[in-house]
Amino acid sequence: MAKTIAVVGVTGAQGGSVADKFLSLGWNVRGITRSAMSDSAKAKAAEGISIVEADLDNLGTLIPAFRGAHVIFAITDFWAPFWEANARLSKISDRATGEHAYAIEVQRGRNVVDAVQQVSKEDGMLERFIFSTLPSFKEQSNGKYTYVYHFDSKADVTEYLKSKEDLWQKSSLLNMAFYSKDTGRFADLLVRCPPKQDLLAVSEMASYRTVMNIWSKTTGIPAEAQEISVEEADKDAPGGFGRESGESAATSAEFGWGDHLVLPKDLDPEIRTTSLKEYMENQKR
Ligand SMILES: NC(=O)c1ccc[n+]([C@@H]2O[C@H](COP(=O)([O-])OP(=O)(O)OC[C@H]3O[C@@H](n4cnc5c(N)ncnc54)[C@H](OP(=O)(O)O)[C@@H]3O)[C@@H](O)[C@H]2O)c1
Repeated sequence: MAKTIAVVGVTGAQGGSVADKFLSLGWNVRGITRSAMSDSAKAKAAEGISIVEADLDNLGTLIPAFRGAHVIFAITDFWAPFWEANARLSKISDRATGEHAYAIEVQRGRNVVDAVQQVSKEDGMLERFIFSTLPSFKEQSNGKYTYVYHFDSKADVTEYLKSKEDLWQKSSLLNMAFYSKDTGRFADLLVRCPPKQDLLAVSEMASYRTVMNIWSKTTGIPAEAQEISVEEADKDAPGGFGRESGESAATSAEFGWGDHLVLPKDLDPEIRTTSLKEYMENQKR
Protein backbone atom coordinates (compact mmCIF):
# COMPACT_ATOMS: atom_id res chain seq x y z
CA MET A 1 0.00 0.00 0.00
CA ALA A 2 1.23 3.50 -0.84
CA LYS A 3 2.62 5.51 2.03
CA THR A 4 1.34 8.94 3.04
CA ILE A 5 3.25 12.22 3.26
CA ALA A 6 1.70 15.29 4.90
CA VAL A 7 3.05 18.54 3.49
CA VAL A 8 2.84 21.88 5.28
CA GLY A 9 2.98 24.76 2.76
CA VAL A 10 1.60 22.74 -0.16
CA THR A 11 0.42 25.91 -1.94
CA GLY A 12 3.89 27.47 -1.70
CA ALA A 13 7.22 27.04 -3.47
CA GLN A 14 8.87 24.44 -1.23
CA GLY A 15 5.83 22.42 -0.18
CA GLY A 16 4.46 22.47 -3.74
CA SER A 17 7.68 20.95 -5.06
CA VAL A 18 7.70 18.29 -2.32
CA ALA A 19 4.05 17.41 -2.95
CA ASP A 20 4.60 17.07 -6.72
CA LYS A 21 7.71 14.92 -6.27
CA PHE A 22 6.04 12.45 -3.90
CA LEU A 23 2.91 12.32 -6.06
CA SER A 24 5.14 11.34 -8.99
CA LEU A 25 6.66 8.60 -6.81
CA GLY A 26 3.20 7.12 -6.15
CA TRP A 27 2.73 8.34 -2.57
CA ASN A 28 -0.58 9.51 -1.09
CA VAL A 29 0.01 13.22 -0.67
CA ARG A 30 -1.88 15.21 1.93
CA GLY A 31 -1.44 18.94 1.40
CA ILE A 32 -1.99 21.32 4.30
CA THR A 33 -3.31 24.85 3.76
CA ARG A 34 -5.28 27.46 5.69
CA SER A 35 -7.86 27.60 2.92
CA ALA A 36 -8.95 24.68 0.77
CA MET A 37 -10.92 27.19 -1.34
CA SER A 38 -7.95 29.23 -2.55
CA ASP A 39 -7.08 28.94 -6.24
CA SER A 40 -3.67 27.46 -5.42
CA ALA A 41 -5.20 24.83 -3.10
CA LYS A 42 -7.80 23.92 -5.75
CA ALA A 43 -5.01 23.57 -8.34
CA LYS A 44 -3.16 21.16 -6.03
CA ALA A 45 -6.38 19.19 -5.43
CA ALA A 46 -6.83 18.90 -9.22
CA GLU A 47 -3.39 17.24 -9.41
CA GLY A 48 -4.60 14.48 -7.06
CA ILE A 49 -3.35 15.89 -3.76
CA SER A 50 -5.77 15.51 -0.87
CA ILE A 51 -6.18 18.95 0.67
CA VAL A 52 -6.63 19.39 4.44
CA GLU A 53 -7.15 22.66 6.28
CA ALA A 54 -4.97 23.49 9.29
CA ASP A 55 -3.24 26.56 10.71
CA LEU A 56 0.23 26.67 12.22
CA ASP A 57 -1.11 29.19 14.74
CA ASN A 58 -3.51 26.56 16.04
CA LEU A 59 -1.84 23.37 17.31
CA GLY A 60 -5.20 21.60 17.63
CA THR A 61 -5.79 21.82 13.86
CA LEU A 62 -2.39 20.27 13.11
CA ILE A 63 -3.01 17.03 15.01
CA PRO A 64 -5.68 15.57 12.67
CA ALA A 65 -3.81 16.95 9.65
CA PHE A 66 -0.68 14.97 10.62
CA ARG A 67 -2.37 11.79 11.90
CA GLY A 68 -1.53 8.60 9.97
CA ALA A 69 1.29 10.16 7.93
CA HIS A 70 4.50 8.16 7.43
CA VAL A 71 6.42 11.32 6.51
CA ILE A 72 5.72 14.91 7.51
CA PHE A 73 7.40 17.79 5.69
CA ALA A 74 7.08 21.29 7.17
CA ILE A 75 8.10 24.83 6.35
CA THR A 76 7.46 28.02 8.29
CA ASP A 77 7.14 31.33 6.47
CA PHE A 78 9.07 34.30 7.86
CA TRP A 79 8.32 36.78 5.12
CA ALA A 80 4.51 37.14 5.20
CA PRO A 81 4.53 38.25 8.88
CA PHE A 82 7.55 40.46 8.10
CA TRP A 83 5.93 42.35 5.22
CA GLU A 84 2.51 42.54 6.89
CA ALA A 85 4.09 44.46 9.80
CA ASN A 86 6.95 46.28 8.10
CA ALA A 87 5.24 49.58 7.25
CA ARG A 88 4.17 50.00 10.89
CA LEU A 89 7.10 48.48 12.81
CA SER A 90 10.01 49.79 10.73
CA LYS A 91 9.08 53.26 12.05
CA ILE A 92 9.78 52.06 15.60
CA SER A 93 13.27 50.64 15.02
CA ASP A 94 15.26 48.73 12.42
CA ARG A 95 14.95 45.58 14.56
CA ALA A 96 11.22 45.73 15.33
CA THR A 97 9.91 44.02 12.16
CA GLY A 98 12.56 41.28 12.26
CA GLU A 99 11.90 40.60 15.94
CA HIS A 100 8.14 40.45 15.29
CA ALA A 101 8.44 37.97 12.38
CA TYR A 102 11.05 35.98 14.33
CA ALA A 103 8.66 35.51 17.26
CA ILE A 104 5.80 34.42 14.99
CA GLU A 105 7.97 31.98 13.02
CA VAL A 106 9.44 30.41 16.16
CA GLN A 107 5.99 29.91 17.70
CA ARG A 108 4.64 28.34 14.49
CA GLY A 109 7.68 26.08 14.22
CA ARG A 110 7.31 24.97 17.83
CA ASN A 111 3.62 24.26 17.24
CA VAL A 112 4.60 22.00 14.32
CA VAL A 113 7.19 20.16 16.42
CA ASP A 114 4.74 19.69 19.31
CA ALA A 115 2.00 18.43 16.97
CA VAL A 116 4.33 16.04 15.12
CA GLN A 117 5.60 14.70 18.45
CA GLN A 118 2.11 14.18 19.83
CA VAL A 119 0.85 12.42 16.68
CA SER A 120 3.96 10.26 16.45
CA LYS A 121 3.48 9.13 20.06
CA GLU A 122 -0.24 8.49 19.58
CA ASP A 123 -0.35 6.59 16.30
CA GLY A 124 3.24 5.31 15.98
CA MET A 125 3.12 5.75 12.19
CA LEU A 126 5.77 8.42 11.69
CA GLU A 127 8.96 7.31 9.95
CA ARG A 128 10.49 10.69 9.08
CA PHE A 129 9.90 14.35 9.97
CA ILE A 130 11.63 16.79 7.64
CA PHE A 131 11.87 20.39 8.80
CA SER A 132 12.90 23.07 6.34
CA THR A 133 15.30 25.19 8.32
CA LEU A 134 18.36 27.42 8.07
CA PRO A 135 21.50 27.65 10.24
CA SER A 136 21.89 30.37 12.87
CA PHE A 137 23.85 33.11 11.14
CA LYS A 138 24.36 34.82 14.49
CA GLU A 139 26.38 31.77 15.54
CA GLN A 140 27.93 31.19 12.14
CA SER A 141 29.29 34.78 12.13
CA ASN A 142 30.46 34.44 15.75
CA GLY A 143 28.05 37.18 16.79
CA LYS A 144 29.16 39.67 14.12
CA TYR A 145 25.81 39.66 12.30
CA THR A 146 22.68 39.78 14.43
CA TYR A 147 20.00 41.02 12.01
CA VAL A 148 19.49 37.76 10.07
CA TYR A 149 16.24 36.98 11.82
CA HIS A 150 14.89 34.69 9.07
CA PHE A 151 17.80 32.30 9.62
CA ASP A 152 18.05 32.55 13.41
CA SER A 153 14.31 31.92 13.89
CA LYS A 154 14.47 28.62 11.98
CA ALA A 155 17.61 27.62 13.87
CA ASP A 156 15.75 28.27 17.13
CA VAL A 157 13.04 25.80 16.04
CA THR A 158 15.74 23.28 15.11
CA GLU A 159 17.14 23.46 18.64
CA TYR A 160 13.63 22.91 20.00
CA LEU A 161 13.22 19.89 17.73
CA LYS A 162 16.56 18.46 18.88
CA SER A 163 15.42 18.83 22.50
CA LYS A 164 12.63 16.32 21.73
CA GLU A 165 14.98 13.33 21.73
CA ASP A 166 12.46 10.69 20.50
CA LEU A 167 11.29 12.85 17.63
CA TRP A 168 14.81 13.97 16.67
CA GLN A 169 15.71 10.28 16.17
CA LYS A 170 13.20 10.26 13.26
CA SER A 171 13.97 13.70 11.84
CA SER A 172 16.18 15.39 9.26
CA LEU A 173 16.86 19.01 8.41
CA LEU A 174 16.62 20.59 4.98
CA ASN A 175 18.52 23.89 4.58
CA MET A 176 17.40 25.49 1.33
CA ALA A 177 19.86 28.09 0.04
CA PHE A 178 18.20 29.54 -3.04
CA TYR A 179 15.33 27.69 -4.63
CA SER A 180 15.25 25.82 -7.81
CA LYS A 181 12.50 23.29 -8.42
CA ASP A 182 14.52 20.67 -6.54
CA THR A 183 13.06 20.91 -3.03
CA GLY A 184 11.09 17.72 -3.64
CA ARG A 185 14.18 15.86 -4.80
CA PHE A 186 16.06 16.89 -1.66
CA ALA A 187 13.14 15.87 0.57
CA ASP A 188 13.02 12.48 -1.18
CA LEU A 189 16.77 12.12 -0.56
CA LEU A 190 16.23 12.75 3.16
CA VAL A 191 13.47 10.16 3.29
CA ARG A 192 15.76 7.58 1.65
CA CYS A 193 18.70 8.31 4.02
CA PRO A 194 19.13 7.56 7.72
CA PRO A 195 17.70 10.28 10.02
CA LYS A 196 19.45 13.22 11.71
CA GLN A 197 20.89 14.61 8.47
CA ASP A 198 21.53 18.34 8.23
CA LEU A 199 21.46 18.89 4.47
CA LEU A 200 22.58 22.02 2.65
CA ALA A 201 20.27 21.59 -0.30
CA VAL A 202 22.14 23.05 -3.24
CA SER A 203 22.80 21.82 -6.75
CA GLU A 204 26.06 23.78 -6.89
CA MET A 205 27.89 26.43 -4.86
CA ALA A 206 28.38 29.64 -6.85
CA SER A 207 29.37 33.24 -6.15
CA TYR A 208 26.86 36.00 -6.85
CA ARG A 209 29.19 37.04 -9.69
CA THR A 210 28.87 33.59 -11.30
CA VAL A 211 25.08 33.56 -10.85
CA MET A 212 24.82 36.95 -12.55
CA ASN A 213 27.10 35.86 -15.41
CA ILE A 214 24.96 32.77 -16.06
CA TRP A 215 21.79 34.87 -15.89
CA SER A 216 23.22 37.39 -18.31
CA LYS A 217 24.32 34.70 -20.78
CA THR A 218 20.94 32.93 -20.56
CA THR A 219 18.80 36.01 -21.03
CA GLY A 220 21.13 37.87 -23.38
CA ILE A 221 20.79 40.94 -21.14
CA PRO A 222 24.12 42.53 -20.23
CA ALA A 223 24.52 42.42 -16.45
CA GLU A 224 27.16 42.11 -13.77
CA ALA A 225 27.13 41.65 -10.00
CA GLN A 226 28.13 44.69 -8.00
CA GLU A 227 29.32 44.22 -4.43
CA ILE A 228 27.81 46.57 -1.85
CA SER A 229 28.40 46.82 1.89
CA VAL A 230 25.81 46.03 4.56
CA GLU A 231 25.60 49.79 5.24
CA GLU A 232 24.79 50.46 1.58
CA ALA A 233 22.15 47.69 1.59
CA ASP A 234 20.67 49.29 4.70
CA LYS A 235 20.55 52.70 2.99
CA ASP A 236 18.83 51.19 -0.08
CA ALA A 237 16.12 49.48 2.02
CA PRO A 238 16.05 51.20 5.42
CA GLY A 239 14.07 50.04 8.46
CA GLY A 240 15.47 46.50 8.72
CA PHE A 241 15.12 44.69 5.40
CA GLY A 242 18.33 46.02 3.82
CA ARG A 243 20.36 45.08 6.86
CA GLU A 244 18.67 41.66 7.17
CA SER A 245 19.39 40.73 3.54
CA GLY A 246 22.82 42.42 3.53
CA GLU A 247 23.95 40.60 6.66
CA SER A 248 22.61 37.32 5.30
CA ALA A 249 24.74 37.63 2.14
CA ALA A 250 27.73 38.89 4.17
CA THR A 251 27.58 35.93 6.58
CA SER A 252 27.59 33.31 3.82
CA ALA A 253 30.37 35.17 1.95
CA GLU A 254 32.61 35.70 5.01
CA PHE A 255 31.83 32.66 7.15
CA GLY A 256 30.22 30.10 4.81
CA TRP A 257 27.14 28.07 5.74
CA GLY A 258 28.75 25.81 8.33
CA ASP A 259 30.96 22.73 8.15
CA HIS A 260 28.32 20.67 9.97
CA LEU A 261 26.13 20.61 6.84
CA VAL A 262 26.25 17.75 4.33
CA LEU A 263 25.80 18.20 0.59
CA PRO A 264 23.40 16.15 -1.57
CA LYS A 265 26.26 14.25 -3.24
CA ASP A 266 27.62 13.25 0.21
CA LEU A 267 24.36 11.35 0.73
CA ASP A 268 23.84 10.10 -2.82
CA PRO A 269 26.71 10.47 -5.30
CA GLU A 270 24.29 9.63 -8.13
CA ILE A 271 21.71 12.31 -7.28
CA ARG A 272 20.62 14.35 -10.27
CA THR A 273 20.00 18.01 -9.48
CA THR A 274 19.14 21.01 -11.67
CA SER A 275 22.18 23.14 -12.49
CA LEU A 276 21.91 26.92 -12.36
CA LYS A 277 22.19 27.08 -16.13
CA GLU A 278 19.40 24.51 -16.64
CA TYR A 279 17.22 26.27 -14.07
CA MET A 280 17.57 29.66 -15.72
CA GLU A 281 17.01 28.22 -19.18
CA ASN A 282 13.80 26.54 -17.94
CA GLN A 283 12.59 29.81 -16.40
CA LYS A 284 12.99 31.49 -19.80
CA ARG A 285 10.61 29.06 -21.53
N1 LIG B 1 13.33 32.01 -1.35
C1 LIG B 1 14.39 31.28 -1.03
O1 LIG B 1 15.32 31.11 -1.82
C2 LIG B 1 14.45 30.65 0.36
C3 LIG B 1 15.56 29.88 0.70
C4 LIG B 1 15.59 29.25 1.96
C5 LIG B 1 14.53 29.39 2.84
N2 LIG B 1 13.46 30.17 2.50
C6 LIG B 1 12.36 30.27 3.49
O2 LIG B 1 11.19 29.68 2.94
C7 LIG B 1 10.07 30.11 3.71
C8 LIG B 1 8.88 30.27 2.81
O3 LIG B 1 8.67 29.05 2.11
P1 LIG B 1 8.01 29.05 0.66
O4 LIG B 1 8.78 29.99 -0.23
O5 LIG B 1 7.82 27.66 0.24
O6 LIG B 1 6.63 29.73 1.00
P2 LIG B 1 5.61 30.51 0.04
O7 LIG B 1 5.77 30.06 -1.38
O8 LIG B 1 5.71 31.97 0.34
O9 LIG B 1 4.24 29.97 0.64
C9 LIG B 1 3.96 30.05 2.00
C10 LIG B 1 3.27 28.76 2.41
O10 LIG B 1 3.13 28.75 3.84
C11 LIG B 1 1.79 28.41 4.14
N3 LIG B 1 1.45 29.09 5.40
C12 LIG B 1 1.76 30.35 5.76
N4 LIG B 1 1.28 30.63 6.98
C13 LIG B 1 0.64 29.50 7.40
C14 LIG B 1 -0.07 29.15 8.58
N5 LIG B 1 -0.23 30.02 9.60
N6 LIG B 1 -0.60 27.91 8.66
C15 LIG B 1 -0.46 27.01 7.65
N7 LIG B 1 0.21 27.28 6.52
C16 LIG B 1 0.75 28.51 6.39
C17 LIG B 1 0.98 28.93 2.98
O11 LIG B 1 -0.22 28.18 2.90
P3 LIG B 1 -1.68 28.83 2.66
O12 LIG B 1 -1.51 30.27 2.31
O13 LIG B 1 -2.25 28.02 1.53
O14 LIG B 1 -2.38 28.61 3.95
C18 LIG B 1 1.90 28.63 1.79
O15 LIG B 1 1.72 27.32 1.34
C19 LIG B 1 10.51 31.42 4.38
O16 LIG B 1 10.52 31.23 5.77
C20 LIG B 1 11.92 31.68 3.84
O17 LIG B 1 12.76 32.26 4.82
C21 LIG B 1 13.39 30.78 1.28
